[in-house]
Amino acid sequence: MPKLIGWRLKPASCWLASTFVGVIIASCYLLPAYWNNHPLSFHEQQFGAIKNLTEILPCSKNLDRKIIILQWTTYFWKNESEYGFGGAPFDRCNHSRSVICLMTMDRSLVNESDAIIFHVRDLNPNDLPPVEWRRPHQHYIFFFYESPMHTDMAKLRLPVFQHFFNRTMTYRRDSDILDLHPYGRMKCIDTSSRSCLNYPRSNGSPVVEDTFDSAKNSFQIDLSLKNRTVAWFATNCNTDSRRESLIHSLSLFIPVDIYGSCGNGSHRCTNRVDCDLMLNRYYRFYLSFENSLCTDYVTEKLYRPMDHDTVPVVYGEADYSSYLPAGSYINARDFDSPRSLANHLNKLMNDDELYLSYFAWRQKYVVDRAPVDGMCQLCRLLSDENTKEKSYADIATWWYSVNQTCRSPPASLV
Ligand SMILES: *[C@@H]1O[C@H](CO)[C@@H](O)[C@H](O)[C@H]1NC(C)=O
Ligand SMILES: *[C@@H]1O[C@H](CO)[C@@H](O)[C@H](O)[C@H]1NC(C)=O
Ligand SMILES: *[C@@H]1O[C@H](CO)[C@@H](O)[C@H](O)[C@H]1NC(C)=O
Ligand SMILES: *[C@@H]1O[C@H](CO)[C@@H](O)[C@H](O)[C@H]1NC(C)=O
Ligand SMILES: *[C@@H]1O[C@H](CO)[C@@H](O)[C@H](O)[C@H]1NC(C)=O
Ligand SMILES: *[C@@H]1O[C@H](CO)[C@@H](O)[C@H](O)[C@H]1NC(C)=O
Ligand SMILES: *[C@@H]1O[C@H](CO)[C@@H](O)[C@H](O)[C@H]1NC(C)=O
Ligand SMILES: *[C@@H]1O[C@H](CO)[C@@H](O)[C@H](O)[C@H]1NC(C)=O
Repeated sequence: MPKLIGWRLKPASCWLASTFVGVIIASCYLLPAYWNNHPLSFHEQQFGAIKNLTEILPCSKNLDRKIIILQWTTYFWKNESEYGFGGAPFDRCNHSRSVICLMTMDRSLVNESDAIIFHVRDLNPNDLPPVEWRRPHQHYIFFFYESPMHTDMAKLRLPVFQHFFNRTMTYRRDSDILDLHPYGRMKCIDTSSRSCLNYPRSNGSPVVEDTFDSAKNSFQIDLSLKNRTVAWFATNCNTDSRRESLIHSLSLFIPVDIYGSCGNGSHRCTNRVDCDLMLNRYYRFYLSFENSLCTDYVTEKLYRPMDHDTVPVVYGEADYSSYLPAGSYINARDFDSPRSLANHLNKLMNDDELYLSYFAWRQKYVVDRAPVDGMCQLCRLLSDENTKEKSYADIATWWYSVNQTCRSPPASLV
């Protein structure tokens, strides 16, 4: 489940600033005309000062196209968006200046919207835009970050959702729009380098393994205090992947320090910053164990250790070689038993040189904890005149079918 609040590492002032920019843009290009015939709107309730901004800001006239993206549903029962509102979600996109995309929750803009986003968790079949209002050019977007195991499949099978969605926007690589915003990804440091390709690699592309120059390992990893083996942070202790069983077995062979409500309280850290610092300093490994074993389901658990000088031990259904450079992680599923995995971790506790080789990826990559590519891609798709019509006859089967499914845990590990 993605984080809902905190806007990642952005300080509040930064968020306010981007919202402010969004408001300015919105007030220049969108709102003046529509105030004339709309009473108190969501925008006005949220941003009371907007009218004054309109008066003082010069608005440029050379705008070819504004694109409105309406988030129809709440986001985890709140009037929030994963990305913010107005122009903020698109701040970091690299678009031509003649196109501007705007995000809103103001339903009175439904007819003017180019795309309507439905967050699947909040999707209510009794609260959809009226069918007779639907414009053929509008894209209805299936928007979701959770795995099929945590999806209300019965809801998606309702007749009303047949031929309803035009595009999918999820973490899965076969989506129309790949969106990793709450989770993360690896990016090339040198974006112009032809030998560096961002992760995750696209679906079905040939595996091109990275090579690193071991002589160039100049990254600073301080091992002086790193004598604790494994940390696990979790609150969900009874999962479809049965990770808790694997963790229990591991703890018979190596020390596993459990933080959060799945532990017995003997290991604590007070807040995220504090916990991250502790990870950095003291731990060699972090258990990036997913709660369900589903295609491409890789969450922020993977990128947290990568960002904090710790090696991830992964357990999931994804093809991790498409997500991380080879040699940067340990895959539990490469081992035939918890004991052999524990043996390997023990070896790395005692072999600093081998342990440090797991950080060679830093020669070429950085961790992006909150990628914006998804929204940028959506804006581009909507502004492209060559975008084809598309609709999903049966979204439930697309989301959960024979080849796109979730698997049972491997008997050798749990
Ligand atoms: C905004 O405009 C209204 C009416 O034009 C005025 O009464 C109010 O004082 C203005 N607020 C600011 C902060 O300038
Ligand atoms: C969200 O905003 C709408 C419109 O202002 C309001 O009717 C609704 O109660 C709000 N919902 C929540 C959960 O705040
Ligand atoms: C943005 O787009 C321009 C032109 O398409 C390109 O030259 C530039 O490298 C891009 N910048 C980034 C950060 O992608
Ligand atoms: C949307 O358009 C329909 C006609 O297609 C109209 O009846 C309806 O009032 C409009 N809704 C809004 C919110 O403007
Ligand atoms: C790690 O080293 C510190 C300082 O030398 C020591 O107090 C601590 O017991 C060690 N922890 C483990 C798990 O070996
Ligand atoms: C908590 O569990 C650890 C093993 O994970 C054990 O060593 C410790 O004694 C337990 N503490 C309490 C208070 O039960
Ligand atoms: C979206 O799907 C609807 C329903 O199948 C269809 O009528 C419409 O043409 C599609 N629009 C786009 C832009 O693909
Ligand atoms: C599932 O994958 C297999 C092998 O890649 C393929 O032959 C089959 O057509 C796929 N089935 C569906 C329903 O997509």
